[in-house]
Amino acid sequence: MSPARSTAGCPPAAEMVHATSSLLLLLLSLALLAPGHSARKCMLTGKWTNDLGSNMTIGAVNNRGEFSGTYHTAVTSTSNDIKLSPLYGTQNNINKKTQPTFGFTVNWKFSESTTVFTGQCFIDRGGKEVLKTMWLLRSSVDDIDDDWKATRVGNNVFTRLRSVKE
Ligand code: BTN
Repeated sequence: MSPARSTAGCPPAAEMVHATSSLLLLLLSLALLAPGHSARKCMLTGKWTNDLGSNMTIGAVNNRGEFSGTYHTAVTSTSNDIKLSPLYGTQNNINKKTQPTFGFTVNWKFSESTTVFTGQCFIDRGGKEVLKTMWLLRSSVDDIDDDWKATRVGNNVFTRLRSVKE
């Protein structure tokens, strides 16, 4: 035991202080380990891949929570050649949560569609960052009577794409 934390030969008051500080440390550790609480902050910035094989890169999140990036979808509802497309989004920074919610829009550059994603950046039980999202894909239709069939809905789970060097 290090001399600084030893209570051998200490008066009862010093032992009380030692016991109280140990208890506080234990409570703090338990609070950080509690479900829904993670000490690390989940960060959107970086490269991500989803369950469909699509990849996206998110740039820096500014102090207003705004970010931009690029999206390369692995699939399309069209017969067009897929092109890298820009995304624009915001992260909710209220209460400075470690697992923030966010939303972003992809403005497809090879189709007339627009997709909005909303989700939350989680640290999973294994300590890995994961983005749980839902999306709405709005396709363009020529006739207002076709509006009813113009929006698809789904979910995507994104995990971090790491370079081979890492
Ligand atoms: C289009 O088909 O008009 C544009 C591409 C849409 C791709 C969708 S967006 C939701 C889902 N998640 C992906 O990664 N790709 C598809």
